[in-house]
Amino acid sequence: MTDTHVVILAAGKGTRMKSADPKVLHRAAGSSLIEHVLRAADTLRPSTTVVVVGHMSDRVKAALGKRPGLRFALQEPQLGTGHALLQAEPHLAGRSGTVVLLSGDVPLLRPATLRALVETHTARGAAATVLTARVDRPQGYGRIVRDDSQRGQRGRIAAIVEEKDATAAEREIGEINSGIYAFALEPLFTALKSIGATNAQGEYYLPDLVKIYRERGLAVETVSLDDPREILGVNSRRELADMTAILRSVRNEELMASGVTLIDPASAWIGPDVTVAADTVIHPNVYLEGRTRIGARCEIHACVRIVDSTIDDGVVIHNFCVIRESHVRTGASVGPFAHIRPQSEVGEGAHVGNFTELKKTTLGKGSKANHLSYLGDATIGENVNVGAGTITCNYDGTHKHATIIEDGAFIGSDSQLVAPVRVGKGAYVAAGSSIVEDVLGIARGKQVNKDGWAARRKKGKG
Ligand code: UD1
Ligand code: CA
Repeated sequence: MTDTHVVILAAGKGTRMKSADPKVLHRAAGSSLIEHVLRAADTLRPSTTVVVVGHMSDRVKAALGKRPGLRFALQEPQLGTGHALLQAEPHLAGRSGTVVLLSGDVPLLRPATLRALVETHTARGAAATVLTARVDRPQGYGRIVRDDSQRGQRGRIAAIVEEKDATAAEREIGEINSGIYAFALEPLFTALKSIGATNAQGEYYLPDLVKIYRERGLAVETVSLDDPREILGVNSRRELADMTAILRSVRNEELMASGVTLIDPASAWIGPDVTVAADTVIHPNVYLEGRTRIGARCEIHACVRIVDSTIDDGVVIHNFCVIRESHVRTGASVGPFAHIRPQSEVGEGAHVGNFTELKKTTLGKGSKANHLSYLGDATIGENVNVGAGTITCNYDGTHKHATIIEDGAFIGSDSQLVAPVRVGKGAYVAAGSSIVEDVLGIARGKQVNKDGWAARRKKGKG
């Protein structure tokens, strides 16, 4: 096994995005472009991964800084793709093996394609292997120029010519350079230094390496792509939208193949790091984002957004709910119109009904908060009934305070629990109470009748 190293070019400006953000940080189908590339690159289990940054390098580094083991090389100024790769040299000095070169703005590349590229490259003992594709509209791409073909055999790759430097005949060539390559590490950096910049753009072109290698008698191979969509890059908002649609449909096809029902795949938005188990049904306009995990046999109704949350098996999420950084346990039901905010937990078989908000709150097994409640900083036990309109008054203007409701308690409708407060096991809070002290048996806010008050008030006014 030879070592594999990945270098991702992400220093370019991306002028056509017309954006104050770096191009590779634009998001498509739930991840930034460069995260899609890194996800594919990681499947090669590289010993080294280097991202070449330049334009707005601090932003790109900050966005990727949390990924362990990632190295950055700074390219300043940006003098072309050959010059960009050269900047990775200090990170690869003294290493051996294969360098896989990727572009930070080409997010559709499949792991299987990368594997095929590396396998062909090593099997043939090549110095460089270029991933190529045949396309109907090769405009804008570098063209693959081959030696004269012999006896029906396709000629070997001789050079890559950029569109702007190509002759009319070369522009007719339909085979293009994907900008993705495998290189043997050993001759690479010495050869890169011999690339010149006498071309239409005055840049150091990485593809010039092909001609240099061939002249030096080093083997250059190609691998052709079956689906040329894989190497599409993003240069504009239009292309970003197209890419998003493709990424989404690829992901949705995978999910359906694994046993998930998507009622309307065109409006299911399921992020790349989300998992969904079999026999779950997802209705239209559902957004599943971040590290969300959905169990088996769940039903997620229309217009629901779930972010970084765990939903266990057999859960029903009714229409129009937002759930973030929370856990909904087996057999629970949530919504319609519920808001589950971070660090909340809905227990096994529990019910959260319409217009109920949970924040940093645990609702125990079998408990119900079915209507119009705010439950914040609350720990609620099992089989508790939280009546309609119950409010935990958790904030005194300065600090947040906790509410504890123990197993089997009953909170009558329209009650306020002024925290810190505790309702004991099996205790009752009568409807319409404002509770400021712990309740152990039953409590009710005291009603004061003032005889003739209404009449006196009217008189006073009239
Ligand atoms: C490049 C190839 C072309 C190929 C095409 C495939 C060259 C000269 N041409 O053209 O043969 O068909 O990709 O998409 O390589 N970058 C840097 N630093 C630089 C310049 C570019 O990091 O100084 C990065 C860009 O951010 C981008 C990648 O390299 O991620 C490709 O650069 P780009 O300018 O888009 O090259 P193309 O003109 O598309
Ligand atoms: Ca490009």
